[in-house]
Amino acid sequence: MIECSEIKKSYIVGGAEMQVLHGVTFTIRTGEFVAIMGPSGSGKSTLMNIIGCLDSPSGGSYALDGQDVSLLCDDELADIRNSNIGFVFQSFNLLRRADVLRNVALPLVYAGMERHEREKRAKDALGSAAFPEEFWHHLPNQLSGGMMQRVAIARALVNNPLLILADEPTGNLDTKTGEAVLDTFQRLNMKEGRTIVLITHERYVAEHAQRIIHIRDGAIVEDSSVKNRRIADNHHDETK
Ligand SMILES: Nc1ncnc2c1ncn2[C@@H]1O[C@H](COP(=O)(O)OP(=O)(O)OP(=O)(O)O)[C@@H](O)[C@H]1O
Ligand SMILES: [Mg+2]
Repeated sequence: MIECSEIKKSYIVGGAEMQVLHGVTFTIRTGEFVAIMGPSGSGKSTLMNIIGCLDSPSGGSYALDGQDVSLLCDDELADIRNSNIGFVFQSFNLLRRADVLRNVALPLVYAGMERHEREKRAKDALGSAAFPEEFWHHLPNQLSGGMMQRVAIARALVNNPLLILADEPTGNLDTKTGEAVLDTFQRLNMKEGRTIVLITHERYVAEHAQRIIHIRDGAIVEDSSVKNRRIADNHHDETK
């Protein structure tokens, strides 16, 4: 599904060119759950922005689901992104004044879908993200961190994307709540066959994936399957 070949990325900082990715090559197949791991500043988010069609590489090629996207313009990238990719970030990025259901349905408003269908899809996505029904009409600030992250996961799922990209999704959560979120990702991968790319700087978190791509100073230093994969504890009932 993801084919990156010799991806390079540089930024101009203070008039000087700074190369952040130095030719990164890997493929990710449909249905894989891959962690991208590396220290702060190693280029993880830069790589995710490229995989997620939020940014274009400065060199190399990137094909998503067989289509070369490295040469598309911003509008074309936005279309690809909206129909194929669900994003989950460290900060949940929820609308404060909108309840849970509206937050999840929001991408469908942009897609021009009618209200009844939007609600139905949002409820299905909340179910997939193991979000309890009695909180559907709460505002984000009435929820725990773990529940806010499940809302963000549901919102990422609502368009039924090919690919879910998560950048440090447990970064703001305590260990136990983080486990519940990792359990949600594992279920989405194992039971629904979703392709997931999870970015983290923590080995413990990365070991919940099937495979870890290690990146350091903008280059892949190791790419291997996880031998003793961690299966997240199920803490779905954190609402009690
Ligand atoms: N828009 C930008 N302009 C200039 N430099 C940038 C830009 N984005 C990232 N960088 C630089 O590129 C390098 C890699 O950044 P990136 O955000 O990809 O790291 P990261 O691995 O995600 O780190 P973290 O774990 O802290 O999130 C850093 O040195 C950063 O300062
Ligand atoms: Mg980052």
